[in-house]
Amino acid sequence: MALSDNYLIRGGIEGRERLRSIARVMSPTTLAFLESFPLAPDARCLDVGCGGGDVTLALSRIVPRGHVTGVDFDGSKILLAQQEAKGLGIPNVDFRTEDVTAQPQTDDRYDFIYVRFVLTHLRDPGAALSRFFDQLKPGGTLAVEDIDFDGHVCYPPSAAFDKYVELYSQSARARGCDPCIGPRLPSLIQSAGFSDVRVGIVQPAGISGEVKLIAAITFDAIAESALKSGLETSDNLRATSDALYEFAQQQGSFMSVPRIFQCSGLRRQ
Ligand SMILES: C[S@@+](CC[C@H](N)C(=O)[O-])C[C@H]1O[C@@H](n2cnc3c(N)ncnc32)[C@H](O)[C@@H]1O
Repeated sequence: MALSDNYLIRGGIEGRERLRSIARVMSPTTLAFLESFPLAPDARCLDVGCGGGDVTLALSRIVPRGHVTGVDFDGSKILLAQQEAKGLGIPNVDFRTEDVTAQPQTDDRYDFIYVRFVLTHLRDPGAALSRFFDQLKPGGTLAVEDIDFDGHVCYPPSAAFDKYVELYSQSARARGCDPCIGPRLPSLIQSAGFSDVRVGIVQPAGISGEVKLIAAITFDAIAESALKSGLETSDNLRATSDALYEFAQQQGSFMSVPRIFQCSGLRRQ
């Protein structure tokens, strides 16, 4: 069994397509976050838990004379990312399969490390942050985006939406992970040795468009884990999934993604 088989959210090709939707929804706020850093055009960057590599490729355009490495423990997503980068003819990226809870496979040092929606899945995010500190060059920057699952909003009230938030949180906690890691990030980053820690909050939301599908597709992607953990029956899972798609299609219904914390820290020495 691969390490990624025990991951809360379904991976592989379907998982990759879910990440593509998330990347489109997150694109304005993630790009604004990335562009807020004074990144040199020849900077060397690491995208940790890069999934299908959406941000890896976005970063590669910001550092045209630099290089971006994407790492993820889901080998099937890494393969898709490699194929996509090759198909697009992007020369300054590479991808490798790597578990970020283990020692890095290389001694490479980076100017910029980016981590989106990964620390929430780790049992010991502090240990991972200490490794990222070691992987940065002095003067390098760490940038993290992660979730606060309690910070969802929808209108009108929806039992299916509430069920989604509750079941996702329960499933994550059952694995020893923190679905509400967002508010903890600044202190975790400080404790790992970083200075100049900054924090902000963004939250894509809307009454139309792809943002309204994120809850339903994420719910479908955790259904198998919830079933295996005995947290829900398959009939109930199907009913909630159908209700989430209906709620998304309902005229005027309003939904957000989780509240998202954008944090950064500097390795001074
Ligand atoms: C929610 S996805 C986010 C992917 C990507 N950062 C993005 O924002 O599009 C989380 C990713 O972290 C990866 N991941 C989770 N735990 C990991 C670990 N221990 N080592 C490496 N990758 C991990 C998963 O395979 C998945 O691709």
